[in-house]
Amino acid sequence: MHMPGGNAIGGVGPQLAADAAAFISVSGLSKSYGAFQALADVSFSIDAGQGLALLGPSGCGKTTILRCIAGLETPDTGRIEIGGVTVFDAQKKIDLAPERRELGIVFQSYAIWPHMSVGENVGLPLKVRRVAGAEITRRIDEALALVGLKGWHERSAMALSGGQQQRIALARAIVHQPRLVLFDEPMSNLDTQLREDMRVDLRLMQERIGFTSVYVTHDHGEAFSLARDVLVMNHGKVEMKGEPHQVYFNPATPFVAKFFGYNVVEGVVASAQEIELAPGLRLAVGPHLLPPGAPVTLCVRKEDISLVDGDSGLACEIETQLFQGGHDELVVACGPLRLRVIQPPRRIPHKDIRLTIPPERCIVLARPAQ
Ligand SMILES: Nc1ncnc2c1ncn2[C@@H]1O[C@H](COP(=O)(O)OP(=O)(O)OP(=O)(O)O)[C@@H](O)[C@H]1O
Ligand SMILES: [Mg+2]
Repeated sequence: MHMPGGNAIGGVGPQLAADAAAFISVSGLSKSYGAFQALADVSFSIDAGQGLALLGPSGCGKTTILRCIAGLETPDTGRIEIGGVTVFDAQKKIDLAPERRELGIVFQSYAIWPHMSVGENVGLPLKVRRVAGAEITRRIDEALALVGLKGWHERSAMALSGGQQQRIALARAIVHQPRLVLFDEPMSNLDTQLREDMRVDLRLMQERIGFTSVYVTHDHGEAFSLARDVLVMNHGKVEMKGEPHQVYFNPATPFVAKFFGYNVVEGVVASAQEIELAPGLRLAVGPHLLPPGAPVTLCVRKEDISLVDGDSGLACEIETQLFQGGHDELVVACGPLRLRVIQPPRRIPHKDIRLTIPPERCIVLARPAQ
């Protein structure tokens, strides 16, 4: 049978200390599975009532971080503090059981008990905390309403779709109003409309209940709208941390730029305001402090490239144009370079077209010489 991990099930946790500015603090967290290092020296903190989104490609260690915070995985090194209480310290050999960490989790795999009703599943965290019956019913109704399943109390959990299971898991994670909620891709199975609605509902709920959250997702928009800070992970390491606007508009590394869909092209500095991307192919990039000949990486958002008729800009040819609904995505060849471009949907001639990029939109990163 499918064994759910459930929420923080069990007795009441330790009395949490009064609000400190950082509600959760993770430092020097490492975890290996045999020779494979899944987490390498991960540190971050989250202020009380705020959200942190963990972003990064599949396998970069996002779920492992959540499992370490929840106490479902034992890190090799590091320290985790929640609400002023040290729940894990490798050096001091402190490792609080999951049920004593007082948090709610929405697992990537939902973890719904199929033999129970929807109401029983959602009410589980209240039952183990011995909340009175009438209060349990009231809170279950409230949590179900929040996830758009009002009145589903009596239904069997056996016959739920993936999206419905996901919503039940979400209701169960918040029904006991925990101070910390861990979300592992809680909306990956929902259709676009429901996802957008729930994104807004979750944001409102977060503001109303005031819980601190760690939110794992593959959806950038979801991360940006639900979290105050974003942590971009790369092979178990923190690649960049910052506010959504900062990580998206000012990626610190080519990895982060690529992750957010930028065009990433290598070149060398040609002059104080130009870089050379290929022999004879120069681009104005605005002022920078790098010396001529310095190897650089140019990062440009697809939306910041314009295709124009006329004489200015770099000559290019369109290789493909894909209609995406609200916009077109194009692949253009510019000499030996291939760039991805997003434009409003329109018919563009495939020849005699030029591309322009506002210099201030070009991000130039120094690149180690090879
Ligand atoms: N129990 C385990 N034993 C061995 N390797 C593991 C174990 N758990 C995780 N890993 C490995 O650690 C790495 C990180 O896994 P993790 O589940 O944290 O990735 P993730 O970022 O959540 O990926 P996804 O986006 O696909 O969910 C992966 O390479 C995974 O195979
Ligand atoms: Mg995962």
